[in-house]
Parts: sequence; C-alpha cells; structure tokens
Amino acid sequence: MEKLLLIDDEVDVQYSFRRIFESPQVEIAAASSGEEGLKLIPKIKPDLVVMDVRMGGMTGLETLRRIRQTDAKLLVIMMTAYGTTQTAIEAMKLGAYDYLLKPFDIPKLKQVIESALQAARAMKEVVSYEHLPDSEDYDVGIVGRSEVMQSVFKLIGQLAVSDATALITGESGTGKELVARAIYHHSKRNEKPFIAINCAAIPENLLESELFGHERGAFTGAATQRIGKFEQCNGGTIFLDEIGDMSPSTQTKILRVLQSGAFERVGGNEQVAVDVRVIAATNKPLEQAVAAKEFREDLFYRLNVVRVRMPPLRDRLVDIPLLVNYFLRKIGRNQKQRPKSYTPEVLAVLERHQWPGNVRELENVVRRATVMAKGDVILPADLPSDLGTTLPAGSVVDVPGPLPGPGRPASQSSAGDSPDLRSVSQTLFRWARGDSKLKIIPAVERELIIHALAETGGNQVQAAKLLGITRATLRKRIDKFQIKQLISVQ
Ligand SMILES: Nc1ncnc2c1ncn2[C@@H]1O[C@H](COP(=O)(O)OP(=O)(O)OP(=O)(O)O)[C@@H](O)[C@H]1O
Ligand SMILES: [Mg+2]
Repeated sequence: MEKLLLIDDEVDVQYSFRRIFESPQVEIAAASSGEEGLKLIPKIKPDLVVMDVRMGGMTGLETLRRIRQTDAKLLVIMMTAYGTTQTAIEAMKLGAYDYLLKPFDIPKLKQVIESALQAARAMKEVVSYEHLPDSEDYDVGIVGRSEVMQSVFKLIGQLAVSDATALITGESGTGKELVARAIYHHSKRNEKPFIAINCAAIPENLLESELFGHERGAFTGAATQRIGKFEQCNGGTIFLDEIGDMSPSTQTKILRVLQSGAFERVGGNEQVAVDVRVIAATNKPLEQAVAAKEFREDLFYRLNVVRVRMPPLRDRLVDIPLLVNYFLRKIGRNQKQRPKSYTPEVLAVLERHQWPGNVRELENVVRRATVMAKGDVILPADLPSDLGTTLPAGSVVDVPGPLPGPGRPASQSSAGDSPDLRSVSQTLFRWARGDSKLKIIPAVERELIIHALAETGGNQVQAAKLLGITRATLRKRIDKFQIKQLISVQ
C-alpha cells in the first residue's frame, strides 16, 4: 500500500483528493498546515507529498525546504494557482518533483501522481544482487548464478563504491534498469534522489529542456522558466535510459555536464553547477552509432568508462530455473498464495526457447502460465503454444547469398544482400515437421514481430517500418499473438 500525504488548508481539496486517489493501493493522509505536515511525515512515512504553496502559517516553500533537509528522497509535488509560476520555479530549484496548477486538470493530475509514485518506488525498493538464497524474503533482486551474471554483480559492487559514470548495454529486457537501481541503492548517494529518464520516450526537441530546463522565451511556447532534471536532482543520480536517442545538441550538453559539472539552461547564459552521477543505458549498439556519426565519439568514451554488458538470456540458460522460482515466489506473494510449482517438461520447454524479449519475456510467460494453470502445478500446456520453437537467434536474417532459381521475383534480385529465402523456408519446413501442431506462417510472423519490437525497443512505428506493414496491422498482430504480454510495448 502506498501513502500519499496531502498538505493543504482547503478542506475541498482534501475531499477531492480522497475521492480521486483513495484506493486499496493508495492511502491518503491529510495535514492542514506545513507545521502539521512536518510532524506527520516521520510518523506515517509517506511515499509522496502533495502540498499547496500558499497556506496559512509556514509557507509551502519553507515546508519544502525543511522536508528536503531531513529527507532528500521524499518526493514532493507542489500545487500553485495560476500566476504564481515564479514560486513553482523556486520549488523546483529546491528539489520539488513537479508542480501542478490549480484548478486541476484531473487526467494530468493522475498522470503526475502516478509517475511520482513510480519514481518513489524505484528509489525505495532496494535492488539486491549476489547471494539471493531461495528462502530469503527479498523484494527486488537481480537473480543469476551464471558466470556472466557473477561478473555483472562484481561490477555493480565496484560501481557502487565509486562515483564513476557507468554505461549499461544489452538487449531489451536483460535487466539494465534493475542494474542501474542496484548501483544507486548500494552507492553513497542512496540518501539522495534517483531520477530515471527515458530519452526515447520524450520527443527529441523537448528532451534538452526536460534535462536542462529552459529560460523564459527560449523558444516558442517557453512562456516561463523551467528547471530541468539535472538541476532538480542535484546531489543525486540520474539514469539516462535509451541514451542512443539524443539530438546532437543534447549530447553536447551531457558531455559538458559530465566533464565540468555545469551547463546552461536552454536559451540562457547563466552557468548552473550541479553534482549529479550519471548512469546511462542503451539497447542500441552505440559503437555503430558512433561510426555512423550519430553519436558523439567523445561522449561515448566519457560514458564508456565503466561498461556493464548485460548478457542476453539465451546466453545464460542456466539461470532460468532460478529466475522462474524467483518470479513464482514474487507472484505468489503478491497474490497472497503459495507459489505454484512446475513440471520438468515445463523447464525443458523454457530452456529451449531463444528469449528475444529476455528476462522480461520470461517473467511475462511465468505470469501468464500461473493464470493459465488450473491447479498448483504449471504444465507445458499452460505455456504459449509456440514457446521453445523459436529459431536460433539470427537464423532468419543471417542466411547469406542471393535467392537461387528461376522463380525469383525481379524486385528481389536488385537487393544484393537479401537473405536466401528459399533455403530459409526449407529450414523452416524441416523444423516445422518435428512439431505437428505448429502453424508455420503465424509462428514465423509472430517471431518476426517480436524480433522487430525487440530491435526497436518496443517502438511500434519503427517496428512497423522494419516489417514493411502499417502500424495498424502491427497493432492487430500484437493483439492476436498476445505479444504485449511478452514485450512491454512502450
Ligand atoms: N536478473 C534478473 N533477476 C530478476 N528479475 C529480472 C532480472 N533481469 C530482469 N528482470 C526483470 O525483467 C524486467 C525487465 O528488466 P529491465 O526493465 O531492467 O530491463 P531493460 O534491460 O531495462 O529493458 P529495456 O531495454 O526494454 O528497457 C523487469 O521486470 C525486471 O525486474
Ligand atoms: Mg529499461
């Protein structure tokens, strides 16, 4: 259960908050003044504070300042009336998570609160790694006993005691974000905030201002000054996810902040100094982006000081039983039920699969299987029917040579590096013959879609382009093949 503390002297606002947000998952506590709020915080330990700027007695800003002194990690959202944006900016400089304008736009309010609760969770849930005995009742862990994961754990330990910039690379779903959080939790900055930003989810032209803020009038639409995440997160850790998706000017600014700890807000001259640790992640091969001049080489080297390479799940199949047990226990605990068990055949199927969506895909398969299982034991029939029938990675696209034979369409002869489709289909048929239940076209189609989504980090527009179909068709297929459950499509 998550706790939200509302500090506001208006009874109406307290009432609407209860109505909108109170649920079995969220508990609302209220205080009518800053003083009362400060007293309540150590008692109820809220996950999030939402506070009015203007109150009788201690002002919202003063209350915020005191909260930050005692608990720099507690997230605070400020509420201001129109026309008091200067105060809102002050609040952001003091480290408020966000601010909301009154009267509220309910969907926006919900969105901001949900994102803050999520950020609070990421800061609070300690991600453990290394020794995770089966019986231990841990919340979030990085599970793995394979040799490759053992070296990842060692690196996490080294990164936790240093303050170095780290670059985490690996396919989608391999646990990059989990590693970033583990580094943060075990570092000396763990009393300070951790803010995650998905660079690919923010439109390119807005990312720079999201990260560094902007001055009033910096561009059309910049009606007021804005404080960016680097400034807000001073003293803390910023996780820049999907770092491959940044415009050249944002890259330049990141490089500068890494080198000198200072930057200017967009459209401004004032130097802002910050002390922020950067952990970056990407599922794109950055070396290639550097070679294609899409990513600054100097920034790449600056980020690449310590590199954590997350191995794909297919290269650490020995971890599968451990991961499955971990997910079953986690699901069981959430549902307040005894964890389900599974037959050896289930494990055999799981170990045959190639896991293009990596650990995230495995977790979703386990989740789905727990729902499908009729009793306490998961059977092979509870798994998706085509699991374990995936082709070895790359076997569709890597078959070299042109398409032989007279039946070859003219359009393909021009594509010099097109795969040998005939031998690919021969391979497919050989493979399909071993499984009478297999429907070859849907199976291949599904695999191609998963591959495209994995390749594009879940970006449907790019994936559709890669596949040569429309986004609408892609969506229909995603539903039809229940791919959403396998790859969390962003
Ligand atoms: N070794 C692991 N042990 C336990 N859970 C894991 C492990 N690796 C990944 N997970 C779980 O798998 C899911 C995906 O992990 P995460 O979000 O860290 O991947 P990612 O590499 O950041 O993926 P993407 O590139 O798609 O953002 C999460 O739910 C995470 O908790
Ligand atoms: Mg991620």
